[in-house]
Formats: sequence, C-alpha cells, structure tokens
Amino acid sequence: CQLNTLAVRAGKKYFGTATDNPELGDAPYVAQLGNTADFNQITAGNSMKWDATEPSRGTFTFANGDTVANMARNRGQLLRGHTCVWHSQLPNWVTSGNFDNSTLLSIVQNHCSTLVSHYRGQMYSWDVVNEPFNEDGSFRQSVFFQKTGTAYIATALRAARNADPNTKLYINDFNIEGTGAKSTGMINLVRSLQQQNVPIDGIGVQAHLIVGQIPSSIQQNLQNFANLGVEVAITELDIRMTLPVTQQKLEQQQEDYRTVIRACKAVSRCVGVTVWDWTDRYSWVPGVFTGEGAACPWDENLAKKPAYQGIVDGW
Ligand code: XIL
Repeated sequence: CQLNTLAVRAGKKYFGTATDNPELGDAPYVAQLGNTADFNQITAGNSMKWDATEPSRGTFTFANGDTVANMARNRGQLLRGHTCVWHSQLPNWVTSGNFDNSTLLSIVQNHCSTLVSHYRGQMYSWDVVNEPFNEDGSFRQSVFFQKTGTAYIATALRAARNADPNTKLYINDFNIEGTGAKSTGMINLVRSLQQQNVPIDGIGVQAHLIVGQIPSSIQQNLQNFANLGVEVAITELDIRMTLPVTQQKLEQQQEDYRTVIRACKAVSRCVGVTVWDWTDRYSWVPGVFTGEGAACPWDENLAKKPAYQGIVDGW
C-alpha cells in the first residue's frame, strides 16, 4: 500500500513532497510525482519564494510557481504555499534597501497580500513566516526583525488572511522537532499571536533530520504544539546520513522515518507529512551539507530504499 493512501487511512489529510521546476523535465521523475497514491500534496521547493516572485519592487513573476500549482491542480493534489516571508532567498532590493520600519512593513504587507491573492482558492496552507527563530528560541536577526521587531509577523499573517480567508496560515521552522528552547520560542510566539487575535492556524515542523538522531521527544513536542489549538504538519522531512551509504545506515534510516511518521500519526492535529523531495536524485542535502546525503526515501535511480518501508510501517 502506498504513502498517501496509508496517511489518509490513518486520518491525515495528505502525504506529499516538494518538487522544483528544473526537475519537471525529467519524465520518469514526473511520472512518480503524479502517483497520487504516494503523493497527494505538492510544495514548490523554490518558485514561490520572494526572490522568485518579486525580484524587483512591485514587479511580480508567478510563471514558475504557476507551473507547479497548475500541475498539482490538474492531478487533484493539494498545495502548500512556501513561503511569504523568510530571511533567505530574498532579492537584494529587500536586504539592502535600508527601509524604515513602516516602509518595510508595507513592503511585507504588499508582498504577502499579492502572493497569497494570486493563489487564492488553490492553497491548502501557506508557510507565511519561515524560520523566524535562532537556536536558543530568540528571534533571528533578519532584516525584518532588525527593522520591525516582531511586527512583521503579525503584518504578514494578517495580509495573508485578508488575501485568502480559506487557506491555513503557518509559521514554519527547523530544529523544532523535539522539545527545547527553540520549540518553546515557537509556543510562546503562537500564544502571544493568539492573545492579540492575530490569525495563526498551524505550526510547520521542517524535520531536516540526521540518521540515528531523531529527538526522542518528537511526539510529545508535536502534541505540545497541537495543544495550542493549531494544526501541526511535518513540512520538509528528510533524514540525511554521512556518505558513503551502508546497509546499516539504510536500516537505521528506515527506523528513523518510521519514528517520525508514528509521531505524526499519534497526534490527531498533525495533518500530514511532506518530504523535501522523495528522491536522492534531486535532494538539496548534498549541496548544503558537505559529505552528507542519501536523505530521501527513494534513491538516485528512483528506486525505493528501506526508508520507504519505514514510512509504510509508521502509518
Ligand atoms: C532549499 C531548496 O530545496 C534548495 O533548492 C535551495 O537552494 C535552498 O532552499 N528550509 C526551507 C526550504 O524552508 O525553503 C529550503 O529549500 C530548505 C531548508
């Protein structure tokens, strides 16, 4: 039985994957992507980010994002929008603009509003704010935080709500799989937004993890998030290893995928799991983490690894 089918049987909304525009010329890859028994949800890996969608101020380009969205829609797959406000993959005009507080807030407002409006009615959810935290749970010194404090977060969420009242609004981050200072920071932020009546519907847990190092508190932590009354989703799952691949590491990876899936399964408000591409052929990991890779449940030849069975077993 296949991954989305099992997730839905477990009461979840979807099992899905990221993809990216350059990959869509690879016919065998695209055929697997269209298998809705495995993937009934798609995230655009890059083409809805700020540098891709508003490369110069007030000029919006949605062609690549639309390619991904249209493909998913034609196949009946859900979409997660990624992402409105993030410190990375920003165009220079934002990072170097030296805007004052109110100008930058209006830029954030306009960007989120235009982006989310463009896809109104098409998105199950949006990662409205991505990676706002430092590892100690304090706020990351992004250009947005430096100029506006936390005001940019409420501005972005309100703009997104007005632009599409029916999409779920998420804050997404990494290293918030287990309990700890960063997860506590997320809980405190969500609570304070709720107290101020700022719209917030979900917490996205990226889950870029390492073989043999899944936090033992992952289920408890997802439950702590869910206890705020918001949805939780695993949004960018991959579990990397130090290369070379060995049979023993593949077996540990199988167990680790199972552990993550079981944690989501056990938390009723955890709505679904997205892998950050399903095949090692296009994983971002080797390009960013030197000497590491093989993080996905399918290998470079598009063949299933033991990790696939780990996901099956987890559901
Ligand atoms: C990554 C993409 O996969 C790469 O292609 C790109 O070069 C860098 O960004 N957290 C996120 C994602 O929220 O947007 C990142 O995606 C991976 C880490």
